[in-house]
Amino acid sequence: MRKLAIVTLVLGLCGGAFYAVSAAEKAAEPAKEAAPKAPVECFESRKGASEITQRDIKPGWPNVKCSPKTGAALWYGDPYDGTVPMGKMPGLENIPEGHAVIKPRSEKLALMPMCGVSCHNGVGPAFNPPTLPKDKKPKPNPTMEAMVPDLANLQHGRGRIWCMDCHHTTKRNMLVDHFGDPVSFDQPQLLCGKCHGDKLRDWRDGIHGKRIGSFASTGKKRWFTCTECHNPHNVQDGARNRGFAQLQPEPSPQLPRGMKDASHEKLHPIPH
Ligand code: HEC
Ligand code: HEC
Ligand code: HEC
Repeated sequence: MRKLAIVTLVLGLCGGAFYAVSAAEKAAEPAKEAAPKAPVECFESRKGASEITQRDIKPGWPNVKCSPKTGAALWYGDPYDGTVPMGKMPGLENIPEGHAVIKPRSEKLALMPMCGVSCHNGVGPAFNPPTLPKDKKPKPNPTMEAMVPDLANLQHGRGRIWCMDCHHTTKRNMLVDHFGDPVSFDQPQLLCGKCHGDKLRDWRDGIHGKRIGSFASTGKKRWFTCTECHNPHNVQDGARNRGFAQLQPEPSPQLPRGMKDASHEKLHPIPH
């Protein structure tokens, strides 16, 4: 409850500031002419195979149709919504700038933004650095366990790895690589890859994990990062959820303007 209250407060404050700025910007902006309509690009479109056929389902209801065979609208929204460039990744230098994008993890983590600010801030006797672990012997940590229940019985590495193998010692809002350098929570592949090199290579090659977006090999793609699927704190918890992060469902796709529901989709245009 308290955690929620803090988050709401922080968000509230930031939201207020943002609103003020955007309102000021809006006022200063000169009225723009309506931009010419960009041609609709189909998600996962491929010349000759899954091209978009733009038509109106009803007047004013433009479809976004990817399959000329079934007529099904496969995707209304934009697969790149909410994504940012992946950042530097050894082995992926040949991907054109901005063509490898990811959804940042940090915005999904409620505690993380506060770790290095509210508690592990290097100030006060109860806080880091005086309480830095002196050895790597796992000890119970009731405060952390209360906040993140999976930490009560860390199921990763069979008792051979511990918090500081993954989290940066002094910068608690960062992960850590083998050199002790900070790694962003948005680039977990750089953390996981330091121990799971084989999986990192498979992921880079598109054998492990998932990517969506343009079919062309040089096309823009959203890459799913390791922590979008794996919960790092319980990868080996067989009984409960088999070590996978519990996915938050994506919001339902946005319907074209004016359309109230997508029940027309249930009528299969091809009898079978
Ligand atoms: C195998 C690497 C690894 C180990 C070991 C590990 N963590 Fe984490 N931890 C992560 C990663 C990666 C994330 C971000 C997860 C995500 O993006 O969903 C994270 C997230 C967190 C968070 C933020 C959760 C939130 O919802 O904001 C806390 C707190 C945390 N870890 C504490 C700990 C503590 C305490 C330990 C030791 C008992 C520990 N972790 C052990 C990798 C690890
Ligand atoms: C410090 C080294 C280290 C880091 C960093 C690390 N792991 Fe692990 N991981 C291990 C070890 C050790 C095991 C246990 C292997 C065993 O004993 O079966 C393991 C096990 C796993 C397993 C279960 C494997 C299996 O065979 O069932 C998964 C999945 C996994 N890790 C994913 C990740 C992900 C995702 C990350 C990044 C968030 C990560 N690991 C970071 C060392 C690491
Ligand atoms: C789209 C989801 C997804 C992403 C992204 C993903 N994984 Fe996995 N991973 C899986 C699934 C599903 C399995 C289980 C496969 C199986 O049981 O055969 C798995 C298995 C593993 C295993 C255990 C393999 C074994 O031999 O049992 C490791 C280690 C692992 N992943 C590490 C990673 C790392 C490191 C990354 C990021 C570079 C990553 N994964 C990204 C879904 C994902």
